[in-house]
Amino acid sequence: MKPSRVLAVALLVATACRAPAPASSGLRSTEPAVPPRRAVTFPEGWRFKAGEKAAFGEHFMIASNQVLASDAGNEIIRAGGNAVDAAVAVGFALAVTYPVAGNIGGGGFMVIRMADGRAATIDYREVAPLAASRNMYFDANGNPTMESIIGYRASGVPGAVAGMAEALSKYGSMTLAQAMAPAIRMARDGFVVDSQLYGSLRSSQGYVGRFDGKDVFYKDGDAIKPGTLFKQPALARTLQLIADQGPKAFYHGEVGDSLVAAMQRGGGIIVKQDLEQYKAIWRTPIRSTYRGYAMYSMPPSSSGGIVVAEALNILEALGDTVPSWGTAAYDHLLGSAYQRAFIDRNSKLGDPAFVNVPLEQLTSKEYARALAKTIDRNRKTPTPPNGAQIADGMHTTHYSVVDDKGNAVATTTTLNNGYGSAVYLKNVGFFMNDEMDDFAAAPGKPNMFGLVQGEANAIAPGKRMLSAMSPTIVLDPQGQLFLVVGAAGGPRIITATSQVILNVIDHRMSLADAMRAPRLHHQALPDTLMVETNGLSADAEAGLKRIGHGIKYIGGLANVNAVMRVKGGWEGVTEPRMGGTGGTSAH
Ligand code: DON
Repeated sequence: MKPSRVLAVALLVATACRAPAPASSGLRSTEPAVPPRRAVTFPEGWRFKAGEKAAFGEHFMIASNQVLASDAGNEIIRAGGNAVDAAVAVGFALAVTYPVAGNIGGGGFMVIRMADGRAATIDYREVAPLAASRNMYFDANGNPTMESIIGYRASGVPGAVAGMAEALSKYGSMTLAQAMAPAIRMARDGFVVDSQLYGSLRSSQGYVGRFDGKDVFYKDGDAIKPGTLFKQPALARTLQLIADQGPKAFYHGEVGDSLVAAMQRGGGIIVKQDLEQYKAIWRTPIRSTYRGYAMYSMPPSSSGGIVVAEALNILEALGDTVPSWGTAAYDHLLGSAYQRAFIDRNSKLGDPAFVNVPLEQLTSKEYARALAKTIDRNRKTPTPPNGAQIADGMHTTHYSVVDDKGNAVATTTTLNNGYGSAVYLKNVGFFMNDEMDDFAAAPGKPNMFGLVQGEANAIAPGKRMLSAMSPTIVLDPQGQLFLVVGAAGGPRIITATSQVILNVIDHRMSLADAMRAPRLHHQALPDTLMVETNGLSADAEAGLKRIGHGIKYIGGLANVNAVMRVKGGWEGVTEPRMGGTGGTSAH
């Protein structure tokens, strides 16, 4: 096969950097070393058709929830930037054009895999302010309040600016000012509001409208209309300060001062010292394998990497092949694997600076084999019921970037709830997160996502709240970059992301089908198999009930954006459940 220009360049770069050799040596085709794709049949009545096409790019691909943000990454790669430069450009652009989840007032995780084989992850999760305390979200009568979700006290110390700047300085090739230029331009000169932003703002009017965002995002009692050229001068100024001065503008300078002043006015607890102490942390990626494919994913403070690895290891331990997709047998095994991995998540995981996380054990094949033995193929195992309900939400955002040199970045970032705590800092132009709700505010009681978590994730000053964000990079069995994937959707991030991975590896679906296939979710508590409405055939539903599963039908399950290697280039698919509002940008 003819070696491609893309990989030739990648090898030149690798040599120039004198970096470790890639997992396999010699020139490689852009064709993935995977079996051919197979057609899939979705259950009757399922909302998406199988056999659709994905976006294609010969040289590079960016998939995010907002096309202008993807275009920002495209602009950067065309200007000579790499995937990390582009990811940072996308991240800042999302803060401008996708305020429901894109942010500089929140945090996230980035998994990087360079074409020369280096892999890294950076944790820029928020931390609990120094004045936070274990019982801060209870009222005088001992009842939980809503303060972990809405208002000034819901925010952790934001990590986004520190994380993106740090990632850029280590793996990028451009300056912050260059990578931020598209975002600054869109904030300063405006961008045209589309129906997605309008709809999102309109449905959040009661929430956002409680605080200072009401005068910025709403006019004459309605959200800013589609077609409006929307400028955000305060945000433009903030971004320009960061571009000029670096993250110190946010953590030690004018932007931080304004944030702290707003917190003081609104009764929040973030003070100057919190910002000054904030640090993004480089962490060793979790490197797991699944049937000969390698995966790089996020260690704690996200649970994503451990739980994805653990669930997939359990499935692998169940046999050389899995039952066919869409059968009760498969759904039962998958649901049971998730159930077991979530039991560990909810009880054992937390910020590794505060709790001893048994990472090696939880991600080991041996442990998975032991757990696999506890699965009865004919009978579901109960977890004690507690009746918790899970809120539906799509309010985080994941983007996947592959550049023309074969470098890849998977990033997930969030404010937690849509528009975070609803607190908009009008002088500096951004929303604050409500990530404090990701702690087990009351260990043993469900949070906003119905997650019942324990002491390991209790609130403590300076501690990172446990996340489910699961940015993941998958290599094919020859060690070539294959899939860049991740999602929004609270705990469903883990199950949705891993199902896209399983759909392409085990079920040999095209990326378009893998993304459109109905998804299921199990998080141990509530002890219910959640399935997307019309996502089961009658046979599968009857079979699952016979095995003893309680089934709950739910609407769209998570929001995935993915890029996959195919012959001759890259496919990109943004979440079909978002009504086509995401956007790929490619060349
Ligand atoms: O870090 C986490 O796991 C959550 N804060 C993610 C929240 C989320 O995905 C919101 N959308 N449903």
